[in-house]
Amino acid sequence: MKNYKVGIIGATGMVGQRFAVLLENHPWFTVTALAASPRSAGKTYREAVGGRWLLDKPMPKDMENIVVMDATADIEKISSEVDFVFCAVDMKKDEIKALEEAYAKHECPVMSNNSAHRFTDDVPMIIPEINPRHMEIVQAQKRRLGTKRGFISVKSNCSIQSYVPALSPLRKYGLNKVLACTYQAISGAGKNFETWPEMVDNLIPFIGGEEEKSEQEPLKVWGNIEGDRIVKVTRPSITTQCLRVPVTDGHFAAVFASFDNKPSKEEILQCWKEFKGEPQDLRLPSAPGQFIHYFEEDNMPQTKLHRNLENGMAVSVGRLREDTQYDYKFVCLSHNTLRGAAGGAVLMAELYAAKGYFD
Ligand SMILES: NC(=O)c1ccc[n+]([C@@H]2O[C@H](COP(=O)([O-])OP(=O)(O)OC[C@H]3O[C@@H](n4cnc5c(N)ncnc54)[C@H](OP(=O)(O)O)[C@@H]3O)[C@@H](O)[C@H]2O)c1
Repeated sequence: MKNYKVGIIGATGMVGQRFAVLLENHPWFTVTALAASPRSAGKTYREAVGGRWLLDKPMPKDMENIVVMDATADIEKISSEVDFVFCAVDMKKDEIKALEEAYAKHECPVMSNNSAHRFTDDVPMIIPEINPRHMEIVQAQKRRLGTKRGFISVKSNCSIQSYVPALSPLRKYGLNKVLACTYQAISGAGKNFETWPEMVDNLIPFIGGEEEKSEQEPLKVWGNIEGDRIVKVTRPSITTQCLRVPVTDGHFAAVFASFDNKPSKEEILQCWKEFKGEPQDLRLPSAPGQFIHYFEEDNMPQTKLHRNLENGMAVSVGRLREDTQYDYKFVCLSHNTLRGAAGGAVLMAELYAAKGYFD
């Protein structure tokens, strides 16, 4: 595989830092450009981050002295120096939309962690094992943008990364109704216990916008390409409650599901065991060998024990049993800043690279 030059837009932030660490020794991607707000521009990466480094692993040595550029003012320079960018910035939705389109129009593909373009009809929202066929809509997007190689692809919200993988292989049984309660880690808000001490010994029953995303995004991920757009499926109906819990990393979900043709417990377990996709077939560098791990023990999976399974890229599932109001209930766990954010975007980029979209 060819080696690609990569930029990180929002490099100083929580997700940006994860990108830096994940890409440190990546076999296909080399980070050559970092960008953030005008506050950080002109400083070395080390100076710009200052005391804000949030990860256990240290800042990659070969990135410490890269001079951070201005994500907006330096679009032309960055686009000319890299093959594509990862983007995770904290800006207004309209500003993010404009920023990402500007990179695409400068012929620089954008692998985005931001929510701004998730419901743009011709922007694919990719979970690589589930909907790689949506990558084809990029041709229509390029026609709209008037580009040859520039396009935007987004990853989904971190909350759905646990239950959508578990539900996807069960859709063939006529999945018609889903209830999911999510228990989300504080790193999902870009925080830890030092920066958010109010979360110690606490639970907050509201995460702005999260329930709408958790109910709508799966319908696009499971959607169909019709002409120049991805059209959402109309089933299942999904209802969610999203809670912030005192956990550093790892989003949990308690899920209830009903089907037109109720499968047996054994059939569900078999579906999960066999579920794999193009990342596994193509042996992409960040792909987990086994996507869904099922735990038989009643008290498993657990956030602390299993969030880092397969480098934080696998989904852990447990407690499958029949329910009195839905057909089945079970629990799921995924690492919100690895599979749910930077890791999921890196895997998405690996799939685009393997299919030649960055050439
Ligand atoms: N945290 C998660 O688990 C997670 C998961 C999925 C998606 N996301 C999404 O990823 C994005 C970033 O999240 P985060 O948690 O990493 O946020 P964060 O820690 O607050 O970092 C925000 C980044 O955006 C940059 N930025 C702010 N204003 C800017 C501007 N005007 N121009 C250019 N860059 C600007 C910041 O640069 P400065 O340092 O220079 O201010 C910083 O690099 C958000 O859209 C979020 O919704 C986060």
